Amino acid sequence: MNQGIRWGILGTGRIARKFAASLATLPDAELAAVGSRSAAAAEEFGSKFQIPRRHATYEALAQDPGIDAVYVATPNSRHAADMSLSLAAGKAVLGEKPFTINVREADAVFALAQARKLLVMEAMWTRFLPLVGEMQAMIRHGAIGEPRGLQAEIGWRAEVRSGRLFEPALGGGALLDAGIYPVSLAALLFGTPTEISGTAEIGPTGVDEEFTVSLGHAGGQRADFLGTFRRPLSLEATITGTEGQFRIHAPWWKASRMTWTRGNGQTELLERPYESHGLQFEAAAFANAWRAGQLECAVMPWAETRAIMGTLDTLRKQWGLRYPME
Ligand SMILES: NC(=O)c1ccc[n+]([C@@H]2O[C@H](COP(=O)([O-])OP(=O)(O)OC[C@H]3O[C@@H](n4cnc5c(N)ncnc54)[C@H](OP(=O)(O)O)[C@@H]3O)[C@@H](O)[C@H]2O)c1
Repeated sequence: MNQGIRWGILGTGRIARKFAASLATLPDAELAAVGSRSAAAAEEFGSKFQIPRRHATYEALAQDPGIDAVYVATPNSRHAADMSLSLAAGKAVLGEKPFTINVREADAVFALAQARKLLVMEAMWTRFLPLVGEMQAMIRHGAIGEPRGLQAEIGWRAEVRSGRLFEPALGGGALLDAGIYPVSLAALLFGTPTEISGTAEIGPTGVDEEFTVSLGHAGGQRADFLGTFRRPLSLEATITGTEGQFRIHAPWWKASRMTWTRGNGQTELLERPYESHGLQFEAAAFANAWRAGQLECAVMPWAETRAIMGTLDTLRKQWGLRYPME
């Protein structure tokens, strides 16, 4: 049995609930504490997931001597501060995507982690899913020839224009919420883009509600994608190579089904279902890096998180979209 990691969860929203449920699938993960801005929310979350210690402030969670790592699941605008609070208290940190609001904030978090010699990782859970790992291995073995392109759609119709997704002060907008998934997949497949362009529809609350992005890479590979809060899209992603194609079926960022089309036109459906919500894979990789004493995890290294934040910054600059805290 591996040395168990004792988790604390910071924030009690939707993804925090999924993370807590996902952790229950890992035999060596202990969910030891939760922190909220309110005692009532901490109590409710704690009793639902049988968490022994429930803190009424994020500071109290960060200071809890009975946890090794903090999972930060607050709105985008808070990530840098909440990760820093936890690192300053000596805890390793798994921080929700987008890692921060911009590169400047990301650099400050990495500097603190480096100074304190603590592991920090962006919780980009998609790249830890079994099907995504298998797809990468198949690409390495030439299953679609040389990969040349990515096309992806990610979007839905938001029923109401309210909540964190539409709030500039919380770092809302379709790019940071949804667009980061294809930006990250393009980085995984092709590396850092050398050409970045996009268009955005800024809505009445002041955030991007729809966007198109086109990325070019040094080897000539292209990634083109569309994201929106205004209409339902196909939610599929296609990776095209010189001798075949992978189509990851909807919703592609939760990757569990994919059709492989070979160069000769033959197709094969690969199905890799997983238990719970699938956040256990990133948590397990994080725990392995923590046990090994690493500051970063090879699957989601700091330089790549930084480059992804840089791509998002460049796009927002093109669109004239600045958040109030910038
Ligand atoms: N990996 C994924 O699939 C995925 C999916 C969805 C979201 N996310 C990311 O996870 C983060 C949280 O998303 P979510 O959907 O879980 O959001 P959510 O349901 O709104 O929950 C956010 C939580 O943050 C805390 N919080 C602190 N300050 C807040 C404020 N000013 N307004 C609202 N909540 C505040 C609250 O917890 P307390 O009341 O307990 O303090 C709240 O429950 C986002 O950065 C998002 O991008 C990731």
